[in-house]
Amino acid sequence: AEGGTCPVAHGAPLAHPTSGDANQQWWPNRLNLKILAKDQPVQRPEDAGFDYPAAFEKLDLAEVKATIAEVLTTSKDWWPADFGTYGPFMIRMAWHSAGTYRVGDGRGGAGEGQQRFAPLNSWPDNASLDKARRLLWPVKKKYGQSLSWADLIVLAGNVAHETMGMPTFGFSGGRIDAYEPADDVYWGPETEWTNGGAERYKGERELDNPLAAVEMGLIYVNPEGPEGEPDPLKSAKDIHETFSRMGMNAEETVALIGGGHTFGKTHGAGPVEGNIGAEPEAADIEQMGLGWKNAYGEGKGRDTITSGLEVTWTYHPTRWDNEFFHILYAYEWELMESPAGAKQWRPVNGGGSDMVPESDFQGRREPRMLTSDLALRFDPVFGEISKRFKDDFAAFQDAYARAWFKLTHRDMGPIARHYGPEVPSEELVWMDPVTAPENVPGDAEVQAVKDAVASSGLSVTELVKTAWAAASSFRSSDKRGGANGGRIRLEPQRSWEVNEPAVIGPVITTLEQIAEQTGVTFADTLVIAGNWAVEKAAADGGVPVSVPFTPGRGDATQEQTDEESFRHMEPKIDGFRNWDPRPSKQFPSEFALVDRANLIGLSAPEMTVLVAGLRVLGAVPEGSTDGVWTENVGVLSQDFLTAITDIDTQWEKVAEGRYRGVTAEGKELFGTRDDLVFGSNSELRTLSEVYAADDAKEKFVRDFVAAWVKVMDADRFDARRAAKES
Ligand code: HEM
Repeated sequence: AEGGTCPVAHGAPLAHPTSGDANQQWWPNRLNLKILAKDQPVQRPEDAGFDYPAAFEKLDLAEVKATIAEVLTTSKDWWPADFGTYGPFMIRMAWHSAGTYRVGDGRGGAGEGQQRFAPLNSWPDNASLDKARRLLWPVKKKYGQSLSWADLIVLAGNVAHETMGMPTFGFSGGRIDAYEPADDVYWGPETEWTNGGAERYKGERELDNPLAAVEMGLIYVNPEGPEGEPDPLKSAKDIHETFSRMGMNAEETVALIGGGHTFGKTHGAGPVEGNIGAEPEAADIEQMGLGWKNAYGEGKGRDTITSGLEVTWTYHPTRWDNEFFHILYAYEWELMESPAGAKQWRPVNGGGSDMVPESDFQGRREPRMLTSDLALRFDPVFGEISKRFKDDFAAFQDAYARAWFKLTHRDMGPIARHYGPEVPSEELVWMDPVTAPENVPGDAEVQAVKDAVASSGLSVTELVKTAWAAASSFRSSDKRGGANGGRIRLEPQRSWEVNEPAVIGPVITTLEQIAEQTGVTFADTLVIAGNWAVEKAAADGGVPVSVPFTPGRGDATQEQTDEESFRHMEPKIDGFRNWDPRPSKQFPSEFALVDRANLIGLSAPEMTVLVAGLRVLGAVPEGSTDGVWTENVGVLSQDFLTAITDIDTQWEKVAEGRYRGVTAEGKELFGTRDDLVFGSNSELRTLSEVYAADDAKEKFVRDFVAAWVKVMDADRFDARRAAKES
């Protein structure tokens, strides 16, 4: 609909409200604020106050696991189990559920059971997993709301491992199911599945951020090699890149792929073309939510077509061992085609031809490998690790058990979000551990910090900038970041450009001294100081308030901080602080602002009051006054909102992403898209109007304070859990 023409004229009929968003069709480039209203209570079927983790903790986990184990070996005629167990199938389901996680924005992952919904339920890579989940319904039915799908999917993967001989590292429950698809995840620019993914790469195969998969519809890499080219070394390059974007190092990557492919088989009994029906989201109603109906032979068992590859890796596909690595090195490999025409590998000269059982135990064949499996041998870095795992089973088992736990629990956040009797006792660095403080400050100590801050000479702007820099690093996606731990004073966060090290460095030093003097942790001191600044700014504006404070933050050490994995959390652009250093503005910055608001977990009204408040408090880059449209910087006023809604101000563009307004009195205002959007966007303008109105002086301050506290406390899962359990 470029230029405002009717989309109907272009042949696309307008969506009925029951089947789509017509506004989005008319104006495809509009800002979608619906992602700031996700997971509303009205969409959730549970009774008010239902506490899933508490319900999960009441379960007899051993009994739940026994129930799952029973299902794994009860083969159903409508989807017979290979080799007599659904174990490998469930492992693939759990891996695909977790494997969508990417460290770039913390989105994806197993945390909400998103595999049940589009698009994931219908991704080509998730073919047949509709059946795996359906097989688990009797378990879900038995435990109802006390066992979320998200937990069940991961737990089934764990039970599968254990029943096949792999001792797992642990299981943590507490994943709360979503009841709607996650519409806030960017899965890539393509409009077709598995088309090679060229649109997401630039230069020398540089993958767009925050994406982690090579193509739309794949969890990670193409098993046949990049764009179907059966080149193990090129495949290795893709594997290195994509698994590191999942937060895995080379050893974890080799352990996971080799360990996973110790079990089960791939399915490509015949051609996909002409045999396989629509994916679940598009399938006929009588298929009851299942998809990929297979017209080949019996359409199941030995005739199953899933990936189109036909590979069984090991001689004992339901036994935990390191046979995968022995086999990887035991043979030389030649290219072959599966019955579906997919490229895969087998031993040369008919090697191993009777070593591998067929899935129904009727006959035997040779072991086979995917191009991506051979990458584990031929890539020098992977190869060294594979050889070690071949020769040292104990090392492999330990690496795999840890990597599987990390894979499936990576997006759960701090240990306070882990529930149940199998939570490991070992502190793992990827959980961003924070040691709880010995002394939780009471009112007198909080006041002592405030007094020290008040006489420190630090300005409202400096204190707000520092507290905001710390707390706003929180990501609701994988529950990482936030003020707890005081990691703002550690690397790499301390040096992030967006945090203006030159400004916050000295503030941190002073706050550290105050923490030392008062015996309060640095992390608590930082938040108390920010709160004090907000209280002062509100009082100076004539609306005195008390900012609620939840004590008990601990200070993390540099050793407790996984620098490499924190590196991915650095904002490259941040509209809350009016910071956009991009030389070329590839996309309008307000989209990144909304994305960030979603990541922090804010609603549109919360985003509006925070931006409006942060601007007048001067929390913009040093030397800039863009968006700071007030005579009284550091006073919490409606000035930003009254300026942006002023009907007499005339605006013009002065540079890419920068604008100049002239008021009726001839005063000049400069601002960015992240400022102007609050006057130009129809939905945000409505919110600005609420907060700019004459009756909203106090409401603005109140709502700003509430949103501020929400961000300061966003990562306090420890405090919320303690409060619930006390
Ligand atoms: C099956 C590819 C990593 C566990 C498969 C299949 C493919 C594949 C194509 C066959 C699906 C079918 O046709 O039924 C890959 C690629 C990977 C990878 C390209 C990464 C480079 C992993 C990891 C795990 C895993 C990390 C677990 C830790 C499994 C299991 C099966 C399987 C257990 C067998 C499922 C069954 O027997 O039904 N994989 N995989 N894979 N994968 Fe992977």
